[in-house]
Amino acid sequence: MGWTDELLTGIAEIDAQHQVLFDCLKRLEEAITAEDRWSVLHFALEEVADFARIHFAVEESLLRLHGYPALDAHIAEHRAFSQDLRGIKERSIRSDVTDEMVHFLKKWLVAHIGKSDHAYLPHLRTAPIAIG
Ligand SMILES: [Fe+2]
Ligand SMILES: [Fe+2]
Repeated sequence: MGWTDELLTGIAEIDAQHQVLFDCLKRLEEAITAEDRWSVLHFALEEVADFARIHFAVEESLLRLHGYPALDAHIAEHRAFSQDLRGIKERSIRSDVTDEMVHFLKKWLVAHIGKSDHAYLPHLRTAPIAIG
């Protein structure tokens, strides 16, 4: 499970950011598999969280500019992911982060991009940016 071309939105910047997110998760997975030091794992988790925050902010502002009607529900999904990530980060202090957790994050990302991100595309195509 991971990045496939089926997840492409056709918006180059968004697609590039989605791919970076999958790259971050791959590094996290590698850190787990290699049983790297806790600091490496923690850094990889920070990287996912930081980049997710950037991507979500970009996407939400794009949707806001286009007056996307389901914006609140979309934001709630983003927040849930960030919350799950925070939970994993907390667990990483006390115990091991497992590859099942990364699998869960990947599954979330594939489902979110495939369904929720793709759901906003028709609106972005038809609704211009609101000016003034
Ligand atoms: Fe996205
Ligand atoms: Fe999204």
